[in-house]
Amino acid sequence: MEVDNSLILKLFEAALGADYTTVRRIGGRLARDLAAGKEGDAAKSLEAMLRKRGVPLQASGYVEAIPRDAGSRLPLVEEAPWPTSPLFLNTDAGHVIEQFIEDANNIALLAANGISARLGILLYGPPGTGKSLLAGHLAARLGRPFYVVRLDSVISSRLGETSKNIRGMFDFIPTKDAVLFLDEMDAIAKLRDDRHELGELKRVVNTVLQGLDSLADEVIVIGATNHPHLLDPAIWRRFPYKAELLPPDSEVRAAMWKHFLYQGGEDGEASALLARLSENMTGADIENFAHAARRRAVLSRREPSLPHILLAITSSTNGVPKLPDNHALSADEKKSLAQLLDELELPRTEIAKRLGLSRQMIHRYLKGSDDA
Ligand SMILES: Nc1ncnc2c1ncn2[C@@H]1O[C@H](COP(=O)(O)OP(=O)(O)OP(=O)(O)O)[C@@H](O)[C@H]1O
Ligand SMILES: [Mg+2]
Repeated sequence: MEVDNSLILKLFEAALGADYTTVRRIGGRLARDLAAGKEGDAAKSLEAMLRKRGVPLQASGYVEAIPRDAGSRLPLVEEAPWPTSPLFLNTDAGHVIEQFIEDANNIALLAANGISARLGILLYGPPGTGKSLLAGHLAARLGRPFYVVRLDSVISSRLGETSKNIRGMFDFIPTKDAVLFLDEMDAIAKLRDDRHELGELKRVVNTVLQGLDSLADEVIVIGATNHPHLLDPAIWRRFPYKAELLPPDSEVRAAMWKHFLYQGGEDGEASALLARLSENMTGADIENFAHAARRRAVLSRREPSLPHILLAITSSTNGVPKLPDNHALSADEKKSLAQLLDELELPRTEIAKRLGLSRQMIHRYLKGSDDA
């Protein structure tokens, strides 16, 4: 990758001036350039570094002091880099997102016509469907700094401290053109547990409402939750846009297998086959399976093994969670794989190729199951 000299100069200037916000922004840009230049591994390492060395903002000149929880001293808000890994969305969610972006980009025009909406979007759906990733992508698409608040870390064990934390965090959002991401919003509802006095939940909800109402209109707020029904209705209403992130449909699953397992390389047929068998798996599941298979492949200097992935998927969907490994397949396993692919109506030559077996073996395995 060609490195832009002026970027390096800016990086040094920011680093020596302890301006970590700029350092991280330049890091994010470099990571994107690396990813675009097909240097995915370097991009990932840099991204991981930016995420881990989550340098808080206090030295950035924006603010005097970043708000922290008095007990744990953990920062309540952090600027996170824009994601570099791609996002795959089902069509319905994709539509909502595109409309939201269009509205956000044209807010002045909409306001002039008296039809602007508060730029708040709630992402909800099961774990691992890409809510947090999507929030980062939204910030990137809108070209805005991405401030992440994990509400579970804002909730303090000290009585009364939680509302103070929430107030501190809303007061802190420094610029109008920020994206504020409130992750894990169900944490508020969990205050209903017995550790807390009854009034506290109400106080916290009220503080969140006041905080949301106090933000400049231009601030974009994204909320994420696994349990939308637990959210207070008044909070729910503060997010006019809503996108439900469901597990990926078959087309999106195929794209995910292709990306996570074959890194965008060919094998469209194998990806389509895996998509058919991985119904109900989330993006995080597919990534996890694909990476496990690639780890085995790299360490044994082979290609990822489709049969082992198929076995892991069928075992997991039958209630015995397993990741792809590279054990020697037993005759029973080969037979059940042959039957599985036969049920999916793959031609026998194809089954033989995919399982690395001779056609005679496949015939033998399937004899009997066809006559039945
Ligand atoms: N739709 C998707 N497109 C691309 N990658 C995805 C998608 N969904 C999940 N992933 C992968 O799984 C990882 C975890 O997803 P993410 O943290 O965004 O899920 P989440 O919905 O926020 O889950 P949780 O509710 O547990 O916070 C992502 O970083 C990404 O690598
Ligand atoms: Mg999340």
